[in-house]
Amino acid sequence: MKVLSVVGARPQFVKLAPMAESLGRLGAEHVIVHTGQHYDANMSDVFFADLEIPAPDVSLGIGSGSQGVQTGAMLAALDPVLAEQRPDWVLVYGDTNSTLAGTLSAVKQHLPVAHLEAGLRSFNRMMPEEHNRVLTDHAADLLLAPTRVAMDHLASEGLAARSVLVGDVMTDVCFRVRDTVDPAAAPVPAGVPDEFVACTVHRAENTDDPDRLAAVLDALAALPVAVLLLAHPRLVARCREFGIPLERPGSALFVGEPLPYPAMVATVLRSAGVVTDSGGLQKEAYLLARPCTTIRSETEWVETLEGGWNVLAPQLDTLSDAVTRPAPTAAQGTPYGDGKAADRAASELLHGTPAPQRP
Ligand code: UD1
Repeated sequence: MKVLSVVGARPQFVKLAPMAESLGRLGAEHVIVHTGQHYDANMSDVFFADLEIPAPDVSLGIGSGSQGVQTGAMLAALDPVLAEQRPDWVLVYGDTNSTLAGTLSAVKQHLPVAHLEAGLRSFNRMMPEEHNRVLTDHAADLLLAPTRVAMDHLASEGLAARSVLVGDVMTDVCFRVRDTVDPAAAPVPAGVPDEFVACTVHRAENTDDPDRLAAVLDALAALPVAVLLLAHPRLVARCREFGIPLERPGSALFVGEPLPYPAMVATVLRSAGVVTDSGGLQKEAYLLARPCTTIRSETEWVETLEGGWNVLAPQLDTLSDAVTRPAPTAAQGTPYGDGKAADRAASELLHGTPAPQRP
């Protein structure tokens, strides 16, 4: 059985790690194709090294571009690779442009597609990720869902027969890494006080409009708690393009680089909470039992909202109240599974749902 994974962006490397391990252990031949969507060493290489992911078999080197240019370039580059490899399954992850390109190239060549992290919805059709999720789920043959809510979304779109609840593979990684890191050794820059919130901002809705971007940074700099902003390259690029200063001297906003995965987990454990617009980090905050404030009007990970562990603060005048709210005391359930999702997903590919017969 040959499984070909298409990945390209940082959160996909995190999901790939436990899948590569499980697929290898269960005896699958696993081919990794890296589109090159994320190419900086600290957005890509360190994840392969730290999470012990085998080096990609094929690197397409596509890089950045507008949504259509980037997705189209990936599609063109993937076609000959899939044609040559002819895997039993093409496995795509999450909701990035790499996910959609992998899906389209595969279905057009009549190759069976499995979508890991299927069924998530924000119901916000302005988000490129929402287009990618919906289109991928409807094109794929096997939908590996992380949560019951995701299963319900798939059922309501008529996709129940192709859907399997496997749990969340990011939970597998998060728990494994949590048990190995020392929060005291988190790489917190000099000058950041003991009490701080860890922050990331990269979504198009917060970074692509100069007024919104300036307002987000102003609101972060005005918070009554220190903010360690781990600046995603998109944030840095947009600030430069729009002439908006990222650093705010005199404020308690500290700007750092994106972190490798274990350092990020250690930093969240060391922090008083998280402020973000990332999907993965909202969930990691929940799994690591730190309160999260999300600078978005909706979340795909709705389970994090229960008990006040995560609060949505799209209106920036509510950000300070949300961030300084009392720490939640509500007990958490296990909506994201038991940390064995990758084994279930790999076993489903190898022994479960048969791949559809194609010419
Ligand atoms: C992508 C995903 C998003 C995911 C995020 C995680 C899509 C539509 N979006 O967003 O869902 O949450 O990855 O990080 O696929 N850049 C660099 N170096 C890099 C990567 C990006 O400098 O290694 C800069 C470039 O200026 C680029 C910009 O960041 O134009 C945006 O990168 P892109 O891959 O298009 O999207 P992300 O914002 O990273």
